[in-house]
Amino acid sequence: MTPRTTGRAEQAPPATTVHLPRGGPDASWWDRRFETDRVEYIDRPDAEARCRRVLRGLHRFQRLTGAYRVFSRLALAEVEGVPEPRVLELGAGYGSLARHLVDRHPTVRITVSDVNPAVVDAVRRGPIGHHPRVDCSVVDATAIDADDGAYDLAVLTTSLHHLAPDGVAALLREGTRAARTLLVVDGWRTPLLLGAVPLMFLTGGPAQAHDGILSVRKMYGAAALHALAERCGAPVRLRTRFALPGYLVASAARDPRPPRRAAG
Ligand SMILES: C[S@@+](CC[C@H](N)C(=O)[O-])C[C@H]1O[C@@H](n2cnc3c(N)ncnc32)[C@H](O)[C@@H]1O
Repeated sequence: MTPRTTGRAEQAPPATTVHLPRGGPDASWWDRRFETDRVEYIDRPDAEARCRRVLRGLHRFQRLTGAYRVFSRLALAEVEGVPEPRVLELGAGYGSLARHLVDRHPTVRITVSDVNPAVVDAVRRGPIGHHPRVDCSVVDATAIDADDGAYDLAVLTTSLHHLAPDGVAALLREGTRAARTLLVVDGWRTPLLLGAVPLMFLTGGPAQAHDGILSVRKMYGAAALHALAERCGAPVRLRTRFALPGYLVASAARDPRPPRRAAG
């Protein structure tokens, strides 16, 4: 799959409510029908027990499929050469990516965060919450409470599809403000990923299969991400690519180039 890059928008428009098919502006009728706005248990405040079950199941699924190894390799590549990298993990869920990062990097410091305070509390009480190079915090990925450039890297894995399109635009704007680089990894938008649903059922039961099916239908295509980067209201440079076995990998940063002059 050829990598794609979005450069700086000529004049960044102000952020407004963005409506966009998840398959991108040119999504086919079939892709638009495949998309759903049904809500996953993870995003339902009235389904706390199921949310916990899904996160436990997802953790088993990620371990079995080697996902944490892929995510930590991609994240550490982004901070290569930085002596004491500061990483903000957004939408951390179970918190296992942080464990992989501190085990593989001797000096990395990580803020493990999630929008759900119960999720952050569980990580804080667990072993990774007591690690000397880890702290935990409630952070909304679409409105990051941190100074400009506070982090070398902000990373969001398997969570992009939980955000509505205007949330994705806000993430691109906020993630590239608070961190030098924003790394996003989620499933590649294709119905073929439904082939993983039996494994989701085995690792997390019906609740995990329910959320897994909705997730696959809510994944963003690379074209949608590029369209949202152009409309996010900040000069964001975005690069997307496919990674095995079925990930969309996006890295974004603020574009340092001066705006191009309009012709004429
Ligand atoms: C499917 S889990 C992913 C967990 C973990 N990152 C992984 O790769 O296995 C999605 C997580 O994103 C969190 N989330 C949803 N919306 C969010 C937002 N606006 N800001 C931060 N986290 C969010 C949810 O609470 C949930 O813990």
